[in-house]
Amino acid sequence: MSKLQIFTSQKMFPTAKNLYGIFFEDINRAGDGGLYPEMIRNRSFEDSIPPEDCHTEMNEYALVSEAGWRDQFNHGEGLSRWIKDQNLPDTPIPAWYGSRVVLELDRTDTLNECRSAALSVEFEPGGSIYNIGYAGMTLREGEEYSFYIYARTFEPVLIELSLEDQDGKAADMSLELKGSGYVRYDGSFSAGRDCREGRLTITCPKGGRIKIGYISLMPAKTYNGHGLRVDLVEKLKDLNPGFLRFPGGCIVEGFSPKTAMRFKNTVGPVWERPGHQLMWHYRSSDGLGFHEYLQLCEDLNMEPLYVFNCGMTCQGRNPVYFEGEEFEEMLQDTMNALEYALGTTDSRWGKLRAQMGHPAPFKMNYLEIGNENNGPEYEIRYKRCYDAIHRQYPNICFIANIHIEKQGIYTDIVDEHFYDTVEYFAENIGFYDEYDRNGPKVFIGELAVVRGWTGKLYAALGEAAFLIGAERNQDIVSLASYAPLLENVDYNAWFPNLIRFNQTESIGIPSYYVWKMFGHNRGEQVVVSKEESDVIYRPVRGAVSLIGSAGFRYRNARWNGEKLEISHELMGHSESNADEYLITAPDIQQREEAKKVFQGDLDKIFIVFGNEEVTEGVFDMDIFVENENEFSIGVYTSRIPEGVYVPDETNPPKSWNVGNVRPFLWKIEGKNSTLIEQTYPENKIMGQRCTVPIRFQAYNHFHYEVDGKMMRLFINGSLVHEVQVPNFPSFAAVVTDTYDEIIVKAVNLSSVQDDVEIVLDCDVEKEYEVDILTGDKDAENSFEFPDKIKDVTEKRDGASGCFRYMAPAYSVNIIRLKKSNKRNAG
Ligand code: AHR
Repeated sequence: MSKLQIFTSQKMFPTAKNLYGIFFEDINRAGDGGLYPEMIRNRSFEDSIPPEDCHTEMNEYALVSEAGWRDQFNHGEGLSRWIKDQNLPDTPIPAWYGSRVVLELDRTDTLNECRSAALSVEFEPGGSIYNIGYAGMTLREGEEYSFYIYARTFEPVLIELSLEDQDGKAADMSLELKGSGYVRYDGSFSAGRDCREGRLTITCPKGGRIKIGYISLMPAKTYNGHGLRVDLVEKLKDLNPGFLRFPGGCIVEGFSPKTAMRFKNTVGPVWERPGHQLMWHYRSSDGLGFHEYLQLCEDLNMEPLYVFNCGMTCQGRNPVYFEGEEFEEMLQDTMNALEYALGTTDSRWGKLRAQMGHPAPFKMNYLEIGNENNGPEYEIRYKRCYDAIHRQYPNICFIANIHIEKQGIYTDIVDEHFYDTVEYFAENIGFYDEYDRNGPKVFIGELAVVRGWTGKLYAALGEAAFLIGAERNQDIVSLASYAPLLENVDYNAWFPNLIRFNQTESIGIPSYYVWKMFGHNRGEQVVVSKEESDVIYRPVRGAVSLIGSAGFRYRNARWNGEKLEISHELMGHSESNADEYLITAPDIQQREEAKKVFQGDLDKIFIVFGNEEVTEGVFDMDIFVENENEFSIGVYTSRIPEGVYVPDETNPPKSWNVGNVRPFLWKIEGKNSTLIEQTYPENKIMGQRCTVPIRFQAYNHFHYEVDGKMMRLFINGSLVHEVQVPNFPSFAAVVTDTYDEIIVKAVNLSSVQDDVEIVLDCDVEKEYEVDILTGDKDAENSFEFPDKIKDVTEKRDGASGCFRYMAPAYSVNIIRLKKSNKRNAG
């Protein structure tokens, strides 16, 4: 049973106005075919054309940048998994197929200079071509679909267009193509019936030759008529987001200079936007561009938070650093973007904004310089961008990717990203408690449980706990967003994502409902609250490992008194000589494997012993300790839970590797002993560092006892560390209030109902309201059961200055209490 004391008379600070927002990045085909509901895939016929600064290898399976970064390409179809799952027939022009036609790309006679291909079609009489869209096209009876085509003919040609599935046509029309040069033809389809897994077919009854320069098919009905998919925008709106971070993410950086994002390529008529290859394995038409993002912000009353490339490609993907003119060009691109958003209509870019239908300036109060960039290369570029932009736009709030203020460089906000386990988030409720109040504010720009309980209710609870910690510190944490936001389920490249969609439906994962609940219940002031609860220990398991230098010698390895065998030689090998074991250096193959998953020292040995499943036991070993020789004993050595994101499925991570084993490190350096937790953003010392009774050039006895809650470590019979296994409160809450309302956000991470005693310093009305999100720990939503985990609002009775609130097992709760004597409530 937990206890929560609420002191409404003790205000801490105002709530952060825009704390909860959204982060959109075009990943999992979230843009074209998704939020931007183009139905024709490869509408510009350029999907199979590699970016100018990349080449393809292995029969177009791989795309390789000049700096050597490799991505899956598959001739422009993207990940092999997508092809396999959708059983896609081969085609030289992704998504396009033909029958009784000669179909080829024309790389010279294109619609305009932004286009690098057109589709040239020579129809036999009755020949046809078709496009299968994004895993088939779905139509709804009675709905209208807007269509246009830029086509060139050499003599008048009649074409028949139909939207059809295996049951035949659902909508059709004919067009007579004629005229010289590329001509635009517009039309509209009206669906006579529902249609799934459909396609757009273009037939030429009498035969003929045409070139298609660009083609588009979209639902006529879009959100506010602004071109975005209605149900998805409504799902975003329901989150009540305060800001939109866009357009990425890694796609801002790109994996080569040509794939880096540039504002100028994403504005103007879509057929004049060049489009570009994204690092998430496909090409974007950039129909969802700068203007569309700003319009979405306006439609949902969100602050735009624009992330721009600061002159480098992704540092995790063989980076290229822009210098000289190339850097200036990038910076100018951002200046142009700002002029587009904020400039007058007589400025070059402000005029284009007006031409695109928005004469009034948009808002632009937040700018993020780069995405996940760091190091001196970033610092230099950050400063140059900041100085240039701040001079012209002194009121914009700047966001850095790192704590750049520590280098003496000014920033308003620092963007911090967290991808981890449920336990990490729950254990780090207090992450911001001791943060420096004199430095920049914090933006939790990307946050998600990506290992273990991904996409399930328990993940949402862990995230909720962390957000409660953020709310308790919203004098410093001023913005937060989940990542990634959207996933077209037929093109998954990352999991989990907040909202999953197919052609017609969309569902929120459990985390979606946490963000929705938190986003709607803000309050005005954070008030002091205190809580008492049980703790939940991190589920730890696994036996022992040794990490050190080659030449390591040990004997008498025991687990619970029984001989302990090596289970995995991750780095180095063991040789035995009578009862003594010697660990030799890692071999070439081990080093090569390690390089793929690990940035550390490849000379280090890493040997795992025993059973991964043990949770308690006693370890003994005699280790030969040499003078000043440093080594670690890994306590609880097991693999960290797998993430679902596998960048290259042809090279999946090995089941055991140096990158996925993260024990607590019992580190011996000379006469010093430390127990270390390997965690993010930096390792933590558990308990105290101490000097220990080690004998050099001699065998020493190392012994530890673990029971899932405590770790007791001994050297030569002396207890040197006694430390708790990391744990987190089973119940956590944050309280905000308004003039007449008290809002409690609370999470119960335990498997049992918690009858929480709530004690207030003011009177409240008996009746109150709660929103509850609860279910099985591993429950998730699906298209079949989209509402399995969803917040439910209930009226309750019985609140008072001291009352019990039953927080269901595994639940997130918003408790809204009405102050009954407002004057006294403070
Ligand atoms: O959210 C997915 C990716 O994770 C983002 O592109 C990047 O910023 C982070 O590494």
